[in-house]
Amino acid sequence: MTAADRAKSAVKSGSKRLLERAGFHLVRSTTPSGGVDDFIPFEPTMRAARAAGLSVGDYIDEVMNGTPGATQSTVDELRALGVFAAAPDTVLEIGPGSGRYLERTLKECVPSRYEIYETAEPWADYLVVTFGVIAQPVTGFNLDATPDNSVDLVQAHKVFNTLTFLGACRYFFEMARVTRPGGRIVFDVMTETCLDPEAMRIWATKGGAGHDSFPAAMPRRTCVDLFTTLGFSLEAAFLAPLGVAFTEVLVFKRDA
Ligand SMILES: C[S@@+](CC[C@H](N)C(=O)[O-])C[C@H]1O[C@@H](n2cnc3c(N)ncnc32)[C@H](O)[C@@H]1O
Repeated sequence: MTAADRAKSAVKSGSKRLLERAGFHLVRSTTPSGGVDDFIPFEPTMRAARAAGLSVGDYIDEVMNGTPGATQSTVDELRALGVFAAAPDTVLEIGPGSGRYLERTLKECVPSRYEIYETAEPWADYLVVTFGVIAQPVTGFNLDATPDNSVDLVQAHKVFNTLTFLGACRYFFEMARVTRPGGRIVFDVMTETCLDPEAMRIWATKGGAGHDSFPAAMPRRTCVDLFTTLGFSLEAAFLAPLGVAFTEVLVFKRDA
């Protein structure tokens, strides 16, 4: 058994008591298989990453998701698009989890304020202590603690394929509300671009059995039309790995 296998098995063997102490809301699943129901519990994941000799972000990419380099490849695409060259002074991230995108974002730009909305308290606390971000209260699918037109870059990665349609919709309106004119919104969704027949077969046969809410799909045109009516233009779109398949990252810019 490799170090990575041992680390993976350490995560799987984490007790329910430990998860509850870590503040995770667990939904019972008959066949846990690494889907959203048992998504990255804090303490076992940190331990397992240490045991594997990896950063927590690399551990999630390489061991938990089987997609080494996935986070960095998305950040590289965003850099090439000029998202960080715009020097965002305020960044807001929904559902940063372990902070694998957050940490890389902070290597690309130096915002004076980085707000997060994260339901998993142990991870939110860890991100506040480690990166000095501001954890805002999550009170539903809103960004109530953030003023209108106040954020240069709003992002969410691998979040909207774990939420219900309504949850994602509500967050979309809020993301538009808080973004400054000229600011950007970046998020990924599992659109029809990611769902050709072969991808459907892969999800059906290899993806997350027993996790009914994951992965959730979201029509691409729905997103584009919505943000267009809210005063944004689609600047770019690209595929990013998600477990056995892909999501589509959409980059919107608010009209100045
Ligand atoms: C699949 S994880 C992705 C985490 C991280 N962005 C990444 O890619 O590693 C989804 C994240 O969204 C968080 N989350 C779930 N519901 C949320 C909500 N209503 N508001 C904010 N975050 C939420 C979860 O706790 C988790 O950290």
